[in-house]
Amino acid sequence: MAMEEGKEPVSANKLSLSRALTLRILVICLLFLALVVGLSIISMHSIRFSMIPQIAAKAPSTVQPWFEDANAFENFIRPPSNLMHNMNDTELLWRASFAPQIKEYPFKRVPKIAFMFLTKGPLPLAPLWDRFFKGHERLYSIYVHALPSYTGGYPPSSVFYRRQIPSQIVEWGRMSMCEAERRLLANALLDISNEWFILLSESCIPLFNLSMIYSYISRSKHSFMGSFDEPGPYGRGRYDQRMQPEVTLDQWRKGSQWFEVNRKLAIDIVKDTTYYPKFKEFCHPACYVDEHYYPTMLTIQSPHLLANRTLTWTDWSRGGAHPATFGKPDITEGFFKRIFEGQSCLYNGQPSTICYLFARKFAPSALDPLLGLASKVFGY
Ligand SMILES: *[C@@H]1O[C@H](CO)[C@@H](O)[C@H](O)[C@H]1NC(C)=O
Ligand SMILES: *[C@@H]1O[C@H](CO)[C@@H](O)[C@H](O)[C@H]1NC(C)=O
Ligand SMILES: *[C@@H]1O[C@H](CO)[C@@H](O)[C@H](O)[C@H]1NC(C)=O
Repeated sequence: MAMEEGKEPVSANKLSLSRALTLRILVICLLFLALVVGLSIISMHSIRFSMIPQIAAKAPSTVQPWFEDANAFENFIRPPSNLMHNMNDTELLWRASFAPQIKEYPFKRVPKIAFMFLTKGPLPLAPLWDRFFKGHERLYSIYVHALPSYTGGYPPSSVFYRRQIPSQIVEWGRMSMCEAERRLLANALLDISNEWFILLSESCIPLFNLSMIYSYISRSKHSFMGSFDEPGPYGRGRYDQRMQPEVTLDQWRKGSQWFEVNRKLAIDIVKDTTYYPKFKEFCHPACYVDEHYYPTMLTIQSPHLLANRTLTWTDWSRGGAHPATFGKPDITEGFFKRIFEGQSCLYNGQPSTICYLFARKFAPSALDPLLGLASKVFGY
């Protein structure tokens, strides 16, 4: 008992000692914690304040907040917000050739039509296109390749506002023209939602409304690349034996440059390193490379995917090297009635009387009468 009694005060003593110690440690811990919290708040503030001017200076036009997670899936699938980039063609084509190996998209993808305008400068028929696109924002994207020196802008209300891509000088009928077309395709491929790609010029007009054109193209089993084997000097006559073995005479094709291709064929075009050097070296005027390179290459690689006809109506009936251009006096209901009548072609293997969705060439003076007829004749 004594021993036990004796123990009591000792243990009580120890207890109060350890209590005091615990309290002191607790205080130290709390102080330390307060210090850490204080320091981290200070450092967070300084990071925030030092980052804001940097971000603001770097990207004044983008609306992305500074804390955005670059690895977020949404950022990966979102189309580029600014079409102007600093990639050269080698880098751009490489970047554009990326394709998913899993065919099902893990998000809701509304496939779009990329309308690609190959122009020298302004688009005189822009008001007609503005009307055509109005109200269909989810179904299309627009890309414009103009001469690099062309800086004419479009008002923010126009569908062409800030849709110009980095460009280079184009010589009509030469390889630089195919390179410009490939540059348009590559830029459009950067938007994962673009599924069909249409090449147009500043003198083209749509002959139907966008709903109709969308359904015609999206339901087609084929891409609309004009491609035929033409005997004579303007067809086979332009072939050069030195293109063998990559291209033989019976593989040689001709077709209109104004094409529509799907995403697979667009990637095949941007990734081509087999046929490109042959055409670059052996097809110079009077071999007009833009009439032969893509029709020949795609017919060799994917003949079953081609409709072998173009969607763009052109009037060659006057003969000569250039098709007819239509101005103000030509634009009447009767004129378009004649275009719509008497068409006949195959669509998904069935006879069809709707063969052309676009037409060229229209002069700037045609704009006003076209706007007047658009809702009655074209349905937009
Ligand atoms: C693009 O830049 C890369 C890297 O500097 C270079 O290797 C390539 O040749 C360039 N391509 C063109 C077309 O200038
Ligand atoms: C287009 O032409 C190729 C051969 O040149 C042929 O294999 C293909 O079936 C044609 N396409 C259609 C839709 O007839
Ligand atoms: C588009 O045109 C077609 C006829 O070509 C018409 O039936 C349809 O109502 C039009 N759609 C719109 C949205 O105007």
